[in-house]
Amino acid sequence: MPARPFLKWAGGKGQLLPELMTRLPTRFRRYHEPFVGGGALFFHLWNSGRLRGSAVLSDYNPELIACYESVRDHVEELIALLLDLRPHFGDREFFYAIRGWDRHPDFQQRPKVELAARTIFLNRTCYNGLYRLNNRGQFNAPFGNYRNPLIVDPENMREVSRALQQVELHVGDFSAVLERAEPGDLVYFDPPYVPVSATASFTAYTHQGFAEAEQRRLATVFMALAERGCFVMLSNSYTDLARTLYAGQPVHESIYASRKINCDGKKRGNVPELIVCSYEPRSQPVTR
Ligand SMILES: C[S@@+](CC[C@H](N)C(=O)[O-])C[C@H]1O[C@@H](n2cnc3c(N)ncnc32)[C@H](O)[C@@H]1O
Repeated sequence: MPARPFLKWAGGKGQLLPELMTRLPTRFRRYHEPFVGGGALFFHLWNSGRLRGSAVLSDYNPELIACYESVRDHVEELIALLLDLRPHFGDREFFYAIRGWDRHPDFQQRPKVELAARTIFLNRTCYNGLYRLNNRGQFNAPFGNYRNPLIVDPENMREVSRALQQVELHVGDFSAVLERAEPGDLVYFDPPYVPVSATASFTAYTHQGFAEAEQRRLATVFMALAERGCFVMLSNSYTDLARTLYAGQPVHESIYASRKINCDGKKRGNVPELIVCSYEPRSQPVTR
């Protein structure tokens, strides 16, 4: 059974996977994904046997990484906690009670696995899987009103846990990949996209957002890794800024993938996306 993302995450790469897979290098050492989110490409690589070395997954969002840690290290306990939550599916009051935990001073003292169960529960039952914090850092996405949300698929959780056993997890900024990646490693960047238009802006994944300065800083990190001899792959929107930042890379392509294009989740469309690689896919010398 394949391992699938266990969270609904904005910007999930499900639709783009075939395009990304055809552009992988023939072989690579470790795999790094510094904006891991739901981890669609990581799981796909694991399922297809392409991960020969270990992997390093990271993200700026500590609650997200805490979920990955709990699935990796305490999967049975986590499944049991999520199964206990099942009778409360569709219960608005219960949703707001659980959501309100982070308004109490003892919130961070709760066991980590309990916090991960809360994050997964909220992700699955809030409006559209939205991860949104108010300016006090409290989760504030509203109730999703789903009749029968799939909060836990125990078999998938166990498979995900297996996939994560050799994985190093970190919370932090994408630039920390510079401290870890070595020549021959594959780094896949899936940043919050450059907005296609001001109204389509969908960059507020974190308190800080991800503005033009961040996109420029990311391009610098991309070039430094390429220079080092890493295989670097990136997806972004097909916008003037993104195209300019990566102009001249060996792969610089516009592709179309049907995806959610705004946060109400209903608008789907074929929007062009940009894929950039620092190498010619499948024509690299074998690295090991
Ligand atoms: C487009 S999503 C990744 C989607 C993911 N590839 C998937 O398939 O679900 C972008 C992610 O970047 C993270 N992020 C935002 N700013 C960051 C930063 N400065 N460093 C690292 N991660 C960041 C967000 O928390 C979010 O999870």
